[in-house]
Amino acid sequence: MDLVRDEIIAMEDSPILEVWRMGFSIPDVIGLWAGEPDLPTPAFICDEAIRALKAGHTFYTHNRGIPELRMAIRNYLQCHYAKDIADDRIAVTTAGMNAVQILCQAMLGPGSKAVVITPSWPNIMRAMTIAGADVTEVPLRRSNAGWSLDLDAVFEACGPGTKMLYLASPANPTGWAISQAEAEAVLAMTRARGIALISDEVYHRIVYDRPVAFSFLQIAEADDALFVVNSFSKNWAMTGWRMGWLIYPEKFLPIAEKLIQFNTSGGQAFLQYGAVAALTQGESFVAEFVERCRRGRDIVAHRLATMPRVREVASNGSFYSMFEVEGVSDTLRFCKDVVVLARVGLAPGLAFGRGAETLIRLCYAKSPENLDAAMDRLDTYLRQTA
Ligand SMILES: Cc1ncc(COP(=O)(O)O)c(C=O)c1O
Repeated sequence: MDLVRDEIIAMEDSPILEVWRMGFSIPDVIGLWAGEPDLPTPAFICDEAIRALKAGHTFYTHNRGIPELRMAIRNYLQCHYAKDIADDRIAVTTAGMNAVQILCQAMLGPGSKAVVITPSWPNIMRAMTIAGADVTEVPLRRSNAGWSLDLDAVFEACGPGTKMLYLASPANPTGWAISQAEAEAVLAMTRARGIALISDEVYHRIVYDRPVAFSFLQIAEADDALFVVNSFSKNWAMTGWRMGWLIYPEKFLPIAEKLIQFNTSGGQAFLQYGAVAALTQGESFVAEFVERCRRGRDIVAHRLATMPRVREVASNGSFYSMFEVEGVSDTLRFCKDVVVLARVGLAPGLAFGRGAETLIRLCYAKSPENLDAAMDRLDTYLRQTA
């Protein structure tokens, strides 16, 4: 296709999708490859969207979302982070990914430099590449205790010409979460060097030792170049709704409005009423969901510990397990074999950039029955191929 930009043609497809496409036609595969719960969206959220649909909320909305939803986001952040975020700094987006795309469009172009803490969800780096940017990956350090941030490496990577630093906390796929002291150091560095800090907090409720993860909103000023990406997808089981939100500094308001107008012209009206219900009535669902994830995490950890050649990396956030299989260096090949021969869908580590090359990711936000069955199949496969 000569008409397509060279960098798009050269861009690698998602290795996770490569495995998914192979498994798609195999009946009875247990798919743990994608980052989503196997629960449908709770009824109290769906009912509100249906009510709004039937009530005729089928028109264009305000670009930044219906006022009721912006107010619900404001109250929600106030409740969890004791921080009042002005309405002008809030925009509803077509899921977290759309928020990231808007930021890339706004700040990156051919030749600009973006730094990403890896292992990272691959779509983020692809959005930067699509915008034309050069991406520098800074891997987390891995030890028996889990993942940790190499602050010196981050500071070194954010050299002259860097426009943007992206990190997710809690992270996909590692579950790593930033501490307040680290966040303060990172924010001070981006402030001093004039770099936009993108904090992806889409897993902020899926933590196992506190009700909510630390947010950069807790320490930032309203005019800091801090952009917080969030989503309804993970915490409220709403991946298919494609709804999220973005918090940005005061001065970014006209840019947010322009870019939303020229991308999507605002989100889907009636779905936004469902999202209001998620934020205002969703606490007991979130609590139950996190407990279910905790159970999933324990099942997987317990089973992986008994499998031959397998070593799991410790994690305390999001809903993924990362593990290594001794002797496996080509994780894409391994995941393709496992999906065909064991009928379990896994995600190959090489998809997530530096630091995850030899690891394999699975999503444990699934029913205990599905996880048990998947672990049985994986166990059998590993014993047969030992
Ligand atoms: C770290 C991270 N950020 C953003 C997203 C985007 O989620 P969505 O576009 O469904 O809101 C994902 C999805 O997997 C993710 O893992």
